[in-house]
Amino acid sequence: MTKQVTPARPHVRLGAQLLQRKSVDAIIADNEGVEPGQQLRRTLNVWHLTMISVGAALGTGILVILSTAVPMAGPAVWIAFVLAGVTAFLSALSYAEMASRVPVSGSSYSYAYATMGEGIAWVCGWCLVLEYAVSVAAIAVGAGQYINEAISVFGLSIPDAWMQPPDSGGIVNVPAAVIVLLATLLLIHGARESAWVNTLMVLIKVGILLFFTAVAFTAFNAGNFQPLAPMGVAGISAAASQLFFSYIGFDAASTAGNEAKNPRRDLPRAIIASMIIVTVLYVLVAVAAVGALPWTQFSDSESSLVTILSDITHQPWVALLFSVGAVIAIASVVLTVLYGQTRILLTMSRDGLVPKLFGRVSPRTGTPIANTLIVGVAVAMTAAFVPLGQLADATSIGTLFAFALVNISVIYLRRNRPDLPHTYKVPLYPITPVLGFLFCGFLAVTLGLETWVVFGMWMAIGVLLYFAYGRSHSVVASTRQVEHRKTATAEPDENTTQDPVSPGHS
Ligand code: ALA
Repeated sequence: MTKQVTPARPHVRLGAQLLQRKSVDAIIADNEGVEPGQQLRRTLNVWHLTMISVGAALGTGILVILSTAVPMAGPAVWIAFVLAGVTAFLSALSYAEMASRVPVSGSSYSYAYATMGEGIAWVCGWCLVLEYAVSVAAIAVGAGQYINEAISVFGLSIPDAWMQPPDSGGIVNVPAAVIVLLATLLLIHGARESAWVNTLMVLIKVGILLFFTAVAFTAFNAGNFQPLAPMGVAGISAAASQLFFSYIGFDAASTAGNEAKNPRRDLPRAIIASMIIVTVLYVLVAVAAVGALPWTQFSDSESSLVTILSDITHQPWVALLFSVGAVIAIASVVLTVLYGQTRILLTMSRDGLVPKLFGRVSPRTGTPIANTLIVGVAVAMTAAFVPLGQLADATSIGTLFAFALVNISVIYLRRNRPDLPHTYKVPLYPITPVLGFLFCGFLAVTLGLETWVVFGMWMAIGVLLYFAYGRSHSVVASTRQVEHRKTATAEPDENTTQDPVSPGHS
C-alpha cells in the first residue's frame, strides 16, 4: 500500500505574501472554475440589485439617527445629509467602476486583493465584517423599539427583560434575534426568493417615508429653518459623520457579482441608482421633519418621526402604520446586509483566508448553507446578548476605510489594467477618486477618539486571526509560487485569460 504524501506548502516570505496580488482574471474566473453544483446561480437582474442596495442602505440611519443628528446640526441637518451623501456618492462612483471591471461577489475585498495585495485585502475584509455583520447586529437591536411602538396602540408592550441585552437591565433581545434568524432562513432558501421578499419590503419602506414626507409637509413652517445652522460648520460636519451611517449599504449590490445575470452592465447601474434614491429620500425626509417640528424639540428619542406624525394627525393608526413599516425597513436591512456578509466570506474562503466551510454551496438551493447558518446564528446571538456600544460606532470607520481603498483601486487599475473590459468609468478621473479618498479621510477623522481606539482593537484582532489562519492557508500564496516555477520563462497570465463574465463591455 502506498503512503499518501501531502505536498509541503511552499514557504513564502511574509512581506511577499502580504503584497501578493491576485490577478483580476483569476478573481473573475473563481466562480466559474469551481466544481459543478458549487457555483452561485446567476438569477438577479438590475432591479433586484438596485433593491439590494436600497434595502441595505435605507434603515436606522433615517429612522433613528436623524433624531440624534438634528440637535447637532440644527435645521441644517439636510446639509449634513448632503455632505455625507457627497462622500458616499464619490465612493459610489468608484464602486461602480470597480464593479464593472471586477464583477464578482467579494466587493472591496476582491478589489483590494487585485490591486494592493493580500495584506490590505485581509484588512479590508475584516473591515467589511464591521460594516456588515457587526452593523447588522446593531441595526436588528433597533427593531424592538418600533415593535413596541406599534403594539402600544393596542395597550401592549414587550417587557424590557425580553428587549434588552443583559447589561442594559434585560435578559435577551428576542425581537432582534428573531428577525435575524428569519432572514437567515430566507437566505438559505434562495438568493432569488430573498431578493423578491426584499423588493417588497423596500417598496413598503420607501412608501412609508414618502407618506411621512407628505404628511409632514402639511405642517411645514419655513420659520423653523431660521437660523439655519445654529451650531455652525462644526455641528454640520459632526452630524454628517453620524449620518454617514445612513448611506452604508449602497455597496451591497457589489457583493452580488457572482449572482447577477449581467454584472458588468447592471452592478454600476444598481449602485448609482440606489445612491440617488436614498439621497433624495433622506433630504426630503429631513426637510419635512424639521419643517414640521422645530429643531430644538428633537431629542435622542428613537421615534421622533412617529411623534411628528402623531402630533399632526392625532390618529393612532398612523403611528401603527409607520411603526410596522419601520420594522419592515429594519428587517430588509438585516436581510440584505446578512446576504452581503455571507458572499464576502464565501469569496474569502475560496482564497483560503477563512475556513473552506464558508465557501461550500448547496447544489440544491444554490446558496452557501453552512456559511449562512454560521453568520446568521452568530449575528443573532450578538444582537440578542451583546451590548455593542462603541463597536457599533466603529462600523463607520471600517466602512470609510473600505471605501477609501476602493477609490485607490480605481486609480491602480486605470494605470495598470486599462485593457480590462468595463461598462462604466468615473467622470473627471482622477479628481473623483482622489476627492472620494479625501472625503472618506475627513469624515473618519471627525469620528471621536474613543471610536478610533475601539477600531484599533478590532483591527488588532483581525491581524491575529490572519496569522492564526490566513497566512498559512492562503491559496494565492501557494499557487503564485507554483505559477512562478511553471512560468519561469513566461510572464504570469494576467492579460491572456478570457473574461468569463458577460461580453457586454465598452
Ligand atoms: N444604512 C443602514 C441603516 O441606516 C446601515 O440602517
